[in-house]
Amino acid sequence: MNEEQRKQQAQIRSEEANIERIKNTSSEELIAKYFHAEYEPQAPDIKKARKRRKEDIQFHYDFSIPEDMQRIGEGKKFLIRTYGCQMNEHDTEVMAGILSEMGYESTNVTEEADIILLNTCAIRENAENKVFGEIGHLKPLKLEKPDLIIGVCGCMSQEESVVDRILKKHQHIDLIFGTHNIHRLPHLVKEALFGKEMIVEVWSKEGDIIENLPKVRKGKIKAWVNIMYGCDKFCTYCIVPMTRGKERSRHPQDIIQEVRHLVAQGYQEVTLLGQNVNAYGKDFEDIEYGLGDLMDDIHKIDIPRVRFTTSHPRDFDDRLIEVLAQGGNLLDHIHLPVQSGSSEILKKMNRKYTREEYLELVRKIRKAMPNATLTTDIIVGFPNETEEQFEETMTLMEEVGFEAAYTYIYSPREGTPAARKKDDVPEEVKKQRLYRLNELVNKQSAETMKTYQGEVVKVLVEGESKKDPDVLAGYTERNKLVNFKGPKSVIGQIVEVEITDTKTWSLNGVMAENRVEVK
Ligand code: 5AD
Ligand code: SF4
Repeated sequence: MNEEQRKQQAQIRSEEANIERIKNTSSEELIAKYFHAEYEPQAPDIKKARKRRKEDIQFHYDFSIPEDMQRIGEGKKFLIRTYGCQMNEHDTEVMAGILSEMGYESTNVTEEADIILLNTCAIRENAENKVFGEIGHLKPLKLEKPDLIIGVCGCMSQEESVVDRILKKHQHIDLIFGTHNIHRLPHLVKEALFGKEMIVEVWSKEGDIIENLPKVRKGKIKAWVNIMYGCDKFCTYCIVPMTRGKERSRHPQDIIQEVRHLVAQGYQEVTLLGQNVNAYGKDFEDIEYGLGDLMDDIHKIDIPRVRFTTSHPRDFDDRLIEVLAQGGNLLDHIHLPVQSGSSEILKKMNRKYTREEYLELVRKIRKAMPNATLTTDIIVGFPNETEEQFEETMTLMEEVGFEAAYTYIYSPREGTPAARKKDDVPEEVKKQRLYRLNELVNKQSAETMKTYQGEVVKVLVEGESKKDPDVLAGYTERNKLVNFKGPKSVIGQIVEVEITDTKTWSLNGVMAENRVEVK
């Protein structure tokens, strides 16, 4: 047996041992073994989580990949599946950046991957079900390819019940880590590669800010920029304050530098991201500086389009409205989740505003920005929502004239106050309400789209349309999808398109200088 064969034999033995371990270890043994000190094996506890600690937020600027891990991924590939919100999409860009600096290449082909990470979402039960489905699908691949590393990260990993379930039922998973320790990825991958046991590292701390993390952004035209992390709002239905920690804002100079850097790279649009961007800066102790001030500073940077999401109506202040009213690169599309049109339900949701206060805010915004586009998020079927209360959501939808809305059926989340409530609304009624609301949302969207007939709009061209490679697609300043025929050379540019046809959720048009009809 030569050296190479000996190595292969040793590898096969280690793989067989690994599979045996997976098959034979009892879940209790695993649980006892893998909960590190960092992981507090308890369900998200709203009372505990509410008591935000007074400790200062630590800023770390010293991220680097240890030397012995810089080439660990050479010749290997990674795949990250992302579920949920833009925050998760952006975390995926960071993890892709870290893995790339470790020498890994990205792939879209599951069978080719040496590392698969599932970046998960906990916001509703169906998001979690999808992830557990995928975990199950990956089992045969792991048995076939024991060297494959499968990791679960993101919001679901911050829930004790999820970690328990993976330990008990999905022992083919190699690695579980949470939302606060993404920067530990090189160490975690190393441990997973060289250790024999499942690595669980979930921090229940409230979060620091880690700057200078590498990123591989998904495109070259639009970019996300985190401005803050976490949420202290504690809406009674929502798991996010427990999975993402306390509100903490990045320093303005770090954000501005990142935006400038994106401009230098040719990006045309940035979206400033946070769970509750309107609370930006409230945690600064040394300076008075909020989202309005940040937008004012970014307004002066030479980037054509700036958006921000997600807003909370409670913290949407006059300074921000005044700054947004300057227009220019600050787009007047405001996503302003209302959740319900009933003041009673809003109170039960702990949203901290009434229907009237929300409408007053809308009036202020419209006064300052008469053409502003408003979109929203709505939950139907909150525990014990009455027919009248639901009707109030329908009338609010019309009264505000939302041009689009993300609509959801309430999903109980373990550890949140609403999940402990008895609920007398049958599932069928909730589905009916969602259906009725969606009909209204579609109607309002289609009506808005019709007003664009014959208009000339500015479109940031993102690439070929998903349905037809001969058609280009992009978004207007108000976030309307436009399909049109034009030369591929305009991808990445902002062009004028005349609208010739309108649909419920998109517009068709011809390029103003280059009139090629879309069929
Ligand atoms: N059930 C249903 N929808 C929810 N959302 C947040 N938590 C829940 C839940 N438990 C919705 C809210 C929020 C959006 C991101 O998801 O509308 O704005
Ligand atoms: Fe969840 Fe948004 Fe409410 Fe925060 S503000 S608790 S993220 S719904």
